[in-house]
Amino acid sequence: MQQTRTRAESQTKFLLDETQLPRRWYNIRPDMPTAPLPVLHPGTGQPIGPDDLAPLFPLELIAQEVSEEPEIAIPEEVLEIYSLWRPTPLYRAHRLEQAIGTRSAIFYKYEGVSPPGSHKPNTAVAQAYYNKQEGRTRLSTETGAGQWGSALAFACKLIGLECKVYMVRISYDQKPNRRSMIQAWGAEIVPSPSPETAAGRAILAEDPDTPGSLGIAISEAVEDAAGRDDTAYSLGSVLNHVLLHQTVIGQEALAQMEAAGAFPDVVIGCVGGGSNFAGLAFPFLREKIAGREIDVLACEPTACPTLTRGPFAYDFGDTSQLTPLVAMHTLGHDFVPAPIHAGGLRYHGVAPLISQLVRDGLVRAEAYVQRDVFASAVLFAGSEGILPAPEAAHAIHGALGAAKAADEAGVERTILFNLSGHGHFDMTAYDKYLEGKLEDVALDEDEIERALRAIEGLPTPV
Ligand SMILES: Cc1ncc(COP(=O)(O)O)c(C=O)c1O
Repeated sequence: MQQTRTRAESQTKFLLDETQLPRRWYNIRPDMPTAPLPVLHPGTGQPIGPDDLAPLFPLELIAQEVSEEPEIAIPEEVLEIYSLWRPTPLYRAHRLEQAIGTRSAIFYKYEGVSPPGSHKPNTAVAQAYYNKQEGRTRLSTETGAGQWGSALAFACKLIGLECKVYMVRISYDQKPNRRSMIQAWGAEIVPSPSPETAAGRAILAEDPDTPGSLGIAISEAVEDAAGRDDTAYSLGSVLNHVLLHQTVIGQEALAQMEAAGAFPDVVIGCVGGGSNFAGLAFPFLREKIAGREIDVLACEPTACPTLTRGPFAYDFGDTSQLTPLVAMHTLGHDFVPAPIHAGGLRYHGVAPLISQLVRDGLVRAEAYVQRDVFASAVLFAGSEGILPAPEAAHAIHGALGAAKAADEAGVERTILFNLSGHGHFDMTAYDKYLEGKLEDVALDEDEIERALRAIEGLPTPV
């Protein structure tokens, strides 16, 4: 036993073989102490039903969105595609621990080994699969950093669907290689706002130089899908079914932590819409809800401080008010975040499931400025080797903060974070950081109040 512990303690990678790939997704809804509030129809203010969503999503995903089943079986074809890169590795960050001289143990789950380079294909493959099953031939979507767009393009290629991607204009300009990758997997891509939709044209008329935002790109993709029978809309984060599909991450991590002879005191992820965070954290939150003590930390940018400064309110998921109203932490649907380099974290809302868990005190949140985040990314790259995506670097920064706090308190903690993707297509951002040209962005209270005026008059959550 002692020998096993010693070996596990000095080990760096904890790998599972393909037979250990989780065969079910974990649904946190039935375990939540407070049920999430219903999604409302913006016209009637009444809860929406499956018929309202059917033009946009396949029935199986609508069923998963409201399911109270504790687990949902993963279809064989999805498992077969997952096996191209899953199970993903879990690392003990020995070298990072040494670099900062902490007494705590730091582990990270690495999702950057997927072909597109992030956690996003965990849901892209599942969504493409159900759409194909139900006869759709084309999907439309938005993408911020380009990770989601490339994940859906990849999934559509493997499953056999057409794909149209509306990419937030600032990222389209900053990341030409993500664009090429999306095209190489056969998808069509345009910068958003685009002149191809009414939503895009309206925003361009008002502000021709807008950097765009995820909220705007969602409006365009939803409009595209709503206008064509062959097309469904696919969202890369926020919705319950998306978070559900990501839970393979945390289930694997539970088994890998056990192999390491450890259990985390702190579980950390970055939050844009919330999917990678949920993917790692939800299976651990099941343990926390059952009575285990775990500090669960969500990390976000100060430029888009949804959980730390946005109220819990009913709001639209998109800028042009095409989506139903969801109860979530929000900065207001027409909030256009500053063009920071963590493009995937520039979203005005956060998943309703996570927002409710924050409200219930099961998850806490912190916000960081981008130069601090990049400093942590470079420190991580210099010790562990991997160049992280700027989004994922928020989780690294959170983990370093947790280790420092533990050292200052004179305690040893076990810290686990999600490294949601690599940053190989984010080198412009690294260039800017290394040249000292990155700027920190913090919002003053007036800007937040101005943005929140957009939700005045919408229903209030009770
Ligand atoms: C690598 C990476 N991490 C995190 C995110 C944030 O999304 P989510 O909060 O849904 O995980 C993105 C989004 O594009 C991303 O590309």
